[in-house]
Amino acid sequence: MFEKIFTIFFLRAFSILLLTVTTSSVSATEVTPEKTTVLENSACIQCHEKQNPSLIKDWQKSAHASAEPAVDCVSCHGSLHTNMTSTARRDKTCTNCHGGEKAPVAHSYASSKHGTLMRIEKNTYDWHQSFASANYRAPGCGYCHMHQNNHNVSRTVRHDLMSSRSGNSAIEKVQDATRAVCQDCHSPRYITRLLDNGEAMLEIARKKVREAKAVIEQAETNFSESQLAPAKTQFKKMQHHLRNVHLGVGHQSPDYQWWHGQPALDGDLLRIKDSIGELQRLKSINAANAKD
Ligand code: HEC
Ligand code: HEC
Ligand code: HEC
Ligand code: HEC
Ligand code: HEC
Repeated sequence: MFEKIFTIFFLRAFSILLLTVTTSSVSATEVTPEKTTVLENSACIQCHEKQNPSLIKDWQKSAHASAEPAVDCVSCHGSLHTNMTSTARRDKTCTNCHGGEKAPVAHSYASSKHGTLMRIEKNTYDWHQSFASANYRAPGCGYCHMHQNNHNVSRTVRHDLMSSRSGNSAIEKVQDATRAVCQDCHSPRYITRLLDNGEAMLEIARKKVREAKAVIEQAETNFSESQLAPAKTQFKKMQHHLRNVHLGVGHQSPDYQWWHGQPALDGDLLRIKDSIGELQRLKSINAANAKD
């Protein structure tokens, strides 16, 4: 008898304990702010850190968090707790800050099939649906870079354009993240072929940059900094054109792979060689004159 009462007492005490634990965690996380309250970033983080700590951690690891000023919760979601994701999912949120529609980042996307479809269809999509669950026919910026709520956009971008493919696990990781997105809509075989082609295309571009670098380095033993200034300025342009190839490959834009990419690099390389060839010609003329 005593034992039974004890058990009931114990169970009761335990369930009350359980109840308090659950209610307290509910009240800590399920309070939604008033729709009219203007919120600051620190408030977003404070509440959402309890709800979804990994989302906050991911954001903290991203180039957005370390940018100056930081691209924070409010930058994408706004400061009022209403329609927070339907606006954030739209491309405008991203392109407005990434240099506008004409900047290479947005324009490379706009000149792809995806961008063309998006332009035609965007008003027919239900932007309240999450990227992962909804039926978006064409992917927008967030679909690829923030797939399944990924708040670390850096996870989807390789950083060292000059690195070679072999043994670079950072690139493999980026490609795995990319592959997971593309395969929502395309076959694995198609994507493998595209990724391989893309990597080959980038390697051709990197070769041109490496060749230019070698030509300039060799010339440095014979010519002064000011003599080499034009070649070096041109070399800086190469980085820009290499990035265009990168964007062309990443955003599947033939225009960026070609017009703004490979031929532009060919032109850069030719100009660098011409400029150094000219210096060499002048040097040998001067040397010949000195002998006379
Ligand atoms: C007082 C706590 C609290 C604060 C402060 C807060 N949130 Fe929330 N937020 C919640 C809760 C609870 C939910 C889930 C309930 C809901 O969907 O309304 C939520 C949901 C969300 C969602 C998902 C909504 C959806 O439609 O799927 C987003 C995005 C969001 N919050 C972003 C923010 C941002 C950005 C800030 C700062 C500007 C912020 N929150 C501030 C508690 C908070
Ligand atoms: C670069 C823009 C951007 C930034 C910065 C950003 N978010 Fe988001 N967030 C989004 C997008 C886009 C989605 C929709 C993702 C999806 O549909 O998969 C989203 C989704 C969410 C959701 C909904 C999660 C769910 O389960 O449905 C929450 C909550 C959220 N963000 C909170 C935050 C908080 C808190 C911060 C600041 C630490 C933040 N976001 C920073 C763009 C951003
Ligand atoms: C179909 C998927 C997809 C879409 C849609 C997409 N991106 Fe990308 N994006 C990529 C891939 C893939 C890369 C290259 C990743 C790598 O290899 O580094 C990339 C690269 C980038 C980079 C890094 C480029 C650099 O070197 O600075 C930025 C920034 C970017 N995208 C922003 C955007 C914005 C903004 C949009 C919308 C206008 C967008 N992306 C649309 C897949 C996509
Ligand atoms: C308020 C400005 C702002 C907004 C909004 C914004 N970004 Fe960014 N983004 C930046 C800055 C600044 C950087 C870091 C410097 C750079 O790479 O240009 C960056 C970097 C990135 C990168 C490259 C990350 C890396 O590690 O190199 C990607 C990809 C990206 N953003 C995608 C997006 C997407 C997708 C959205 C929309 C959902 C978005 N951004 C919204 C300003 C913004
Ligand atoms: C949400 C669905 C969706 C996602 C995700 C998606 N695509 Fe697409 N993609 C499409 C649609 C739809 C088309 C247009 C198909 C057509 O032309 O019939 C397309 C077209 C393309 C094309 C042009 C094909 C051609 O015939 O010119 C390429 C290349 C491509 N996608 C590559 C990718 C890559 C790489 C990824 C991942 C980074 C990706 N896609 C992610 C839906 C998607």
